[in-house]
Amino acid sequence: MSNRTFTMIKPDAFAAGHSGSILKHIEAAGFKIIALKLTRLSSDKAGEFYAVHKERPFYGELVSFMSSGPIVAAILEKDNAVADFRTLIGATNPAQAAEGTIRKLYAKSVGENAIHGSDSDENAAIEGNFFFSAFERI
Ligand code: RTP
Ligand code: MG
Repeated sequence: MSNRTFTMIKPDAFAAGHSGSILKHIEAAGFKIIALKLTRLSSDKAGEFYAVHKERPFYGELVSFMSSGPIVAAILEKDNAVADFRTLIGATNPAQAAEGTIRKLYAKSVGENAIHGSDSDENAAIEGNFFFSAFERI
C-alpha cells in the first residue's frame, strides 16, 4: 500500500479559479500536502511528462493543453494514497465521473479534465521527482 501520490491541477481548472477549492477538497479528504508549486509546463516538458501516451491519437492535443497555462503541482500523503486519490478525482471523462468527485465538480471534458492523479506507486515517485527536488518537499 502506497502512502504518496502526485497531482496537478490542470490549466483549465487553474484558469477558472478553482485551485483553492480543489486543494480544500483534497485536504478535507485527508490528504496531507508534502510539496506544492505553481508553475507552467513548456510543450517539451508536457510531452516528457505524458510520454507514455505518445502513440495515442490525443497526445498532441494533450501536450498542447497541458502547456497552455499555469498548473499547480503537489505531492500528497495518505494511507493508500494512489488508489484513494483516483477515487477522489473520479473517471477520466467527467460525464462518467461519480457525484462529488473533483472531475464531476470541476472538469469540462475528457481532454480538459481539471486534475491529474498518478496511476501507480512507481509513477507517483517518478512524477513527484519530475517536479520537486528534495529541498522542495517536507
Ligand atoms: P491523468 O493521467 O491526467 O490523471 O488522467 P487519467 O489517468 O484519468 O487518464 P489517461 O488515460 O492517463 O489520459 C491522460 C490524459 O489525457 C487526456 N485524454 N484525452 N481526448 C481523449 O480521448 C483523451 N483521453 C485522455 C486527458 O486529459 C487525460 O486525463
Ligand atoms: Mg493517467
